[in-house]
Amino acid sequence: MELILDNLTKTFKDKVAVDKFSYTMKAGVYGLLGANGAGKTTLMRMICTVLRPTNGNILFNGNNINKLSEKYCDKLGYLPQDFGYYPNFSARDFMLYMASLKGIKNNIAIKRTDELLNLVGLSDVSKQKIRSFSGGMKQRLGIAQAVLNDPKILVLDEPTSGLDPKERIRFRNLISDLAKDKIVILSTHIVSDVESIADQIIMMKKGKLILSGTTEDLCNQANGLAWNLTINEDELEKYEEKYLISNLRHISKSIELRIVSDKKPDTNAVSTQANIEDLFLYNFADELGQINMKKEEI
Ligand SMILES: Nc1ncnc2c1ncn2[C@@H]1O[C@H](COP(=O)(O)OP(=O)(O)O)[C@@H](O)[C@H]1O
Ligand SMILES: [Mg+2]
Repeated sequence: MELILDNLTKTFKDKVAVDKFSYTMKAGVYGLLGANGAGKTTLMRMICTVLRPTNGNILFNGNNINKLSEKYCDKLGYLPQDFGYYPNFSARDFMLYMASLKGIKNNIAIKRTDELLNLVGLSDVSKQKIRSFSGGMKQRLGIAQAVLNDPKILVLDEPTSGLDPKERIRFRNLISDLAKDKIVILSTHIVSDVESIADQIIMMKKGKLILSGTTEDLCNQANGLAWNLTINEDELEKYEEKYLISNLRHISKSIELRIVSDKKPDTNAVSTQANIEDLFLYNFADELGQINMKKEEI
């Protein structure tokens, strides 16, 4: 199985949302990482045939998806970013409704619905109205409807948004369960969501693919970018102005900084193993400000 994105471009008037994006996917989990406005949703909409590319092609097993039309759509599962749930439907009725829209026969739909609600841990609440669900429960229902037709290509747009840490772990496990023999593409702007579950991480910025690889590949590419430096408390402002700080820890009257820089930031700085978060900050600092900065107090 192979999905080829060949020089994909999408423009809205004079706005280039996706810019000459080329990438080839085989079965596996792909984490599409980028700041808001990077073009993730637009790229996913093209993959799901909701939008037509302005330029470029998408090939599934060597065939242009325009020519495959329904044959391709039958293999797709999609959780849109702005997925509309029907608050007055029960989870089960919602699944059966989605199954009928997908043209799944009634007896098969019932069987699949029960299996999937069980898989995503919603069996006990299957008769409850969706309006009573937490964000995490809705996202799990969204994933369940996306896999009703046992898709070969599963596209999840920001599936972890609004989830608490416990729900995030549950989500990761669910994706691992579902990913077998599928191409799973999930978008996020949160590094830790993809670090552990994605076989490949794809970083997207201003419509362009800027980096891709396994977590290990990217950490190797990031080598030399991360530094530890201990400073006095009163020096913090000076360093914050000058450097990208990915983390800081107060240790009594000193502060240990983690600085992201391609040059040794200070004679006392000590090189440390870089991670994806450092690489992300390095590439997206201009767009993120310092929102990724974590503070740990000891
Ligand atoms: N339908 C549209 N009309 C005009 N501009 C759009 C439309 N959809 C997306 N854009 C613009 O394209 C860019 C990429 O948006 P999007 O694909 O939603 O990014 P992301 O999902 O990474 O946040 C943004 O600048 C956005 O404003
Ligand atoms: Mg989006």
